[in-house]
Amino acid sequence: MTDSRRYLIAGNWKMNMLRSDGVELAAAVAEGATNPNCDLIVCPPAQLLTEVGTAISHSAVALGGQDCSDKASGAYTGDVSAPMLKDAGCRYVILGHSERRAYHGESDATVKAKAIAALDAGLIPIVCVGETEAERDQGKTMAVISAQLDGSLPDAFDATSLVIAYEPVWAIGTGRTATPEQAQEVHSHIRAHLAIQTAPEVASGMRILYGGSMKPENAGDLLGQSDVDGGLIGGASLKAADFLAIAAAS
Ligand code: PGA
Repeated sequence: MTDSRRYLIAGNWKMNMLRSDGVELAAAVAEGATNPNCDLIVCPPAQLLTEVGTAISHSAVALGGQDCSDKASGAYTGDVSAPMLKDAGCRYVILGHSERRAYHGESDATVKAKAIAALDAGLIPIVCVGETEAERDQGKTMAVISAQLDGSLPDAFDATSLVIAYEPVWAIGTGRTATPEQAQEVHSHIRAHLAIQTAPEVASGMRILYGGSMKPENAGDLLGQSDVDGGLIGGASLKAADFLAIAAAS
C-alpha cells in the first residue's frame, strides 16, 4: 500500500441473509464505521439492496452489487442490469467472481462485456481474477492471471474507475489463505501487467484487493503488503465485528 491509494474493504455477502438479518448486519456495520480510515462497501444479494442501502445511508459505507448483466434492459429473465444497480444506490459491482465463472460459465469475454456495461452505468467494477489450485501447482499462476486481465478488462478505464480483486480459487471459503508473500507476489505481477496493459500512472493508482479467507487474524499481515490495497471478504463479512476488525487492520 502506498500513500496515493486508499484502502478498500468490501464485504461479499454472496447468497446469504434474509431481510431482518441483512438489515441488522448492515446497520451494525454502518454504526461501527463512523470514522473509517478506509473505504467500506457491503455487497448484499440483489433483493436486499434497497433496504441495506437505507440502513447504511447515513454512514460512510457504500453499496455494491454482486453481478450485473452486460445488457442495459430487455427480455433477459432473471438478470439485473447495471443501471438497475445504480438506481438501487450502488456505487460498485463485483464482476467475474470465480463462483460466477465456475457455476455460470462466465468467460473472460462475458466479464469484459459486463465491466463495460457497469462503467457505462457509472458503476465501479470490482473485477476478480485468480488461479485454481491445479494451475498454481503447475506453475501457471502468473500466466493465468495475465490472460484473465487481458480478457476481462475493458479497453479503457482510469485508476479510480475500476478495482481488481485477486482471489486465488483455492483460498475462497476454504480457510486456506495465501501467505502475505504469495499475495504480494501476484499483486505486484498484476500491477506490472496493468502498467503495460493501460499506463504506468493508471497501474500505480489502481486498487488491487486480496480475497480468500481473509479474517481479522490474518488481515493485518496481508494488508501490510505494499501492493495489497484492501480485501474482498466473504465469510468474515457476515459478522459485523469481524468485518469491522478487518477494516480496522487496514
Ligand atoms: P471468503 O470469500 O472470504 O469466504 O474466502 C471471499 C470471496 O469469495 O470474495
